[in-house]
Amino acid sequence: MLFEEIEEPVFTGEELAKQAEHQRSIRLSIVMRLSYCTCKRVKSSQVAENRGFPTAVSAGSVLGTGNVAGLPLGGGLSPCLGPAFVLPDRHVEFGPAMPHKVSLTRLKLTDFRNYAALSLELDQRHVVLTGENGAGKTNLMEAISFLSPGRGLRRAAYADVARVGATDGFSVFAAVEGMDGPVEIGTGTAGAEEGQSRRLRLNGTPARTVDELTDHLRVLWLTPAMDGLFTGPSSDRRRFLDRLVLSLDPEHGRRASEFDRAMRSRNRLLSEFRPDPAWLTAIEREMAGLGVSMALARLEMLGLLTALVERSQGGSFPSAGLSLAGFLDDCHGLPAYDLEERYLAMLSDGRGRDAAAGRTLDGPHRSDLLIRHREKDMEAERCSTGEQKALLVGLVLAHARLVGDMTGHAPVLLLDEIAAHLDQGRRAALFDRVDELGGQAFMTGTDRAMFTALGERACYLTVANGRVSE
Ligand SMILES: Nc1ncnc2c1ncn2[C@@H]1O[C@H](COP(=O)(O)OP(=O)(O)O)[C@@H](O)[C@H]1O
Ligand SMILES: [Mg+2]
Repeated sequence: MLFEEIEEPVFTGEELAKQAEHQRSIRLSIVMRLSYCTCKRVKSSQVAENRGFPTAVSAGSVLGTGNVAGLPLGGGLSPCLGPAFVLPDRHVEFGPAMPHKVSLTRLKLTDFRNYAALSLELDQRHVVLTGENGAGKTNLMEAISFLSPGRGLRRAAYADVARVGATDGFSVFAAVEGMDGPVEIGTGTAGAEEGQSRRLRLNGTPARTVDELTDHLRVLWLTPAMDGLFTGPSSDRRRFLDRLVLSLDPEHGRRASEFDRAMRSRNRLLSEFRPDPAWLTAIEREMAGLGVSMALARLEMLGLLTALVERSQGGSFPSAGLSLAGFLDDCHGLPAYDLEERYLAMLSDGRGRDAAAGRTLDGPHRSDLLIRHREKDMEAERCSTGEQKALLVGLVLAHARLVGDMTGHAPVLLLDEIAAHLDQGRRAALFDRVDELGGQAFMTGTDRAMFTALGERACYLTVANGRVSE
């Protein structure tokens, strides 16, 4: 009896092979990214190591202990949900090392929004853009956001981005001191089929996908449109969370879009009269694998961010408590393989219900990111507008720090209308925090005087009618 209670589950050879394969697929590409930067630049791995993060250089020991950032990686252990995702070495102090600076040295826009043609030479300092409403400040930020995968900070249709009256789409060109050395990036819809997709050239050579941008720089942003994040629909918070994950784990986007495609196939199939059960099962199995991987990647991200927030508490911005709800909530501690089986069963059992609803009611697409104001111990949506803004700023800065720590390269930060709602003291504190990140930040405002505390750390440009001057 006792023996039975402690008996380990016995797996068949096939199941074991499946688990091993699964663990390989879940070996989050965060680790791959780390390997990437550390293989290319030993110095950046030292940066990461100094900060207590595992790197490819220490990969032997990492894999040996079967643990990266609390995520078991082989060695017979399975990835599982739960508190294990919090960094185990949270007491490790940050080292003095700064992440490498990534900066734009040149930016050229053609037929981009209200810019017919713009050519800017920049040094490595931060850039402050001031000008009246409608001048083109956010447009310029949006152009820089196209140096990361996706549809930019407005999530606009490409057809809207091309300047009204332009005949051949838009283009953005940037010379960047990037994560892999200097690189020239060209992207846009010029010459492409209108509105479909944008092209990417790296040093003049066409890239396979825009995801290749993440090999060169990471771009993070905070815009006024994000002010309603805590009170708005959960889809906004999911998107926000997925962008956080993407900046560390570019594979996350592929998983999410493949999951989405599989889910749409399932919904379509369920709407048919007598759908083929074998086909449904095959699609659901695919959804289970992708869906659990997505959930794990999100949880790992939140674990890393939480550990970082805890280590750097007590600054001028409140810190956020982060958790996930809405998908596999009650499964803490279960191995990923079991999670997949559980989600598969949920999908299979929910066919009738989902067919009636016309959509899939369980899955990572129903997760919500729960955010709390830690110091006040209050849900973010119940905090005042000012507190919410401060919380959001704190969250984005913490994330930027995490990206710098994990990759060894500071992200490019776009902070639109950042100074507007902050008093003078908070503004100065913000500028110091931004500067300490070690990267290049672009900031906008209506009044240059708001930025005096930045002093020589930034160059100052005036924007008017789609033109930029010193
Ligand atoms: N596709 C486009 N073609 C031309 N002008 C555009 C296009 N899209 C937006 N605009 C113009 O850009 C201006 C808004 O610029 P924006 O960068 O948002 O201003 P702000 O400086 O206030 O941030 C508006 O005048 C708008 O009409
Ligand atoms: Mg604006």
